[in-house]
Amino acid sequence: MKKNNHPERQKSMAKAKPSPLDEFIAELRPGQSLKLLQALHILTREGKLNQDSRRKLKQITHLYQFIEKALLSLPEGPNGLSVADLGAGKSYLGFLIYDLFFKNKEQGQMIGIETRLELVEKSKQLAQELGFKGMIFADKSVQDAMQDASLPSQIDVVTALHACDSATDDAIEFGLIKKAKYMILVPCCQAEVAANLRQNRALSVAKSSLGELWRHPLHTRELGSQITNVLRCLYLEACGYQVTVTELVGWEHSMKNELIVAKYTGQKKRSSAVHLLEILQQFSIANLLTTRFKRLPSAITTLGAQEPLLESVDSPVLAQ
Ligand SMILES: C[S@@+](CC[C@H](N)C(=O)[O-])C[C@H]1O[C@@H](n2cnc3c(N)ncnc32)[C@H](O)[C@@H]1O
Repeated sequence: MKKNNHPERQKSMAKAKPSPLDEFIAELRPGQSLKLLQALHILTREGKLNQDSRRKLKQITHLYQFIEKALLSLPEGPNGLSVADLGAGKSYLGFLIYDLFFKNKEQGQMIGIETRLELVEKSKQLAQELGFKGMIFADKSVQDAMQDASLPSQIDVVTALHACDSATDDAIEFGLIKKAKYMILVPCCQAEVAANLRQNRALSVAKSSLGELWRHPLHTRELGSQITNVLRCLYLEACGYQVTVTELVGWEHSMKNELIVAKYTGQKKRSSAVHLLEILQQFSIANLLTTRFKRLPSAITTLGAQEPLLESVDSPVLAQ
């Protein structure tokens, strides 16, 4: 059949196709603030799209779905719900959470913790301009935020999106201190475990074929990253959280794409604590026990320090 290449038809076909801006607006949630999107430079002042920022918005909107699901599952007390975003950067995520979840509520707090003062100052200013009264920002490290008496003693949801290096471990510690009901984490690269593996590399390679897993520097880095996230999940389980690990789909432009969702159930899994200890021992990184995994049940950690290797989860000592 002959193709109809009439210019009018082509024009009308072109008209029928929505513009990227129309498509973008169709994707927004009802009531989502265009003013906020402009302030975050996702839309230009002229209402045009900034493609790079649009991608970022798509990503954080995807992550938001998990945070929203967690928030909707929680009962709201008289002070409403609270979320802390650790290593917040420009607080894109925090602003989105506030805009979509908290904006029309009387109560609730969205807390952003970030070490870089200039980013915190800008976020404070933007929150004021938008009238987002329940947004709080602190220019401090996650470690310092743990001791900050001005922050609430309990926080419902803790999130950390690509918080650098061990800031995700600090975020977990923060979540434990604040008795978070959910922790929603997308870790960044982490160097601490890899550095520890590197230290004992020669010995480990000589000792067993397992050492081959990190003989090459690139493998040391990758294995370090893998072990780090496995240990984080075991730690969370040992501290009473149910953990799921998935890929944060729609995150195609980032290599760091692992999503850890931890929901507090109060059931502390002893088997996870034991596995954690065994991994620390097997990879000769038990020094991390006192720095990163301080809250493991002492009955298990004491045994771990004394015995060469834990035999079994069903050990009578562990069953105490
Ligand atoms: C890769 S950026 C991610 C920013 C933001 N979460 C996002 O995804 O757009 C990591 C941020 O974490 C901050 N950061 C790193 N270590 C931190 C720590 N220990 N405490 C607080 N913030 C930290 C950095 O200053 C940086 O802004």
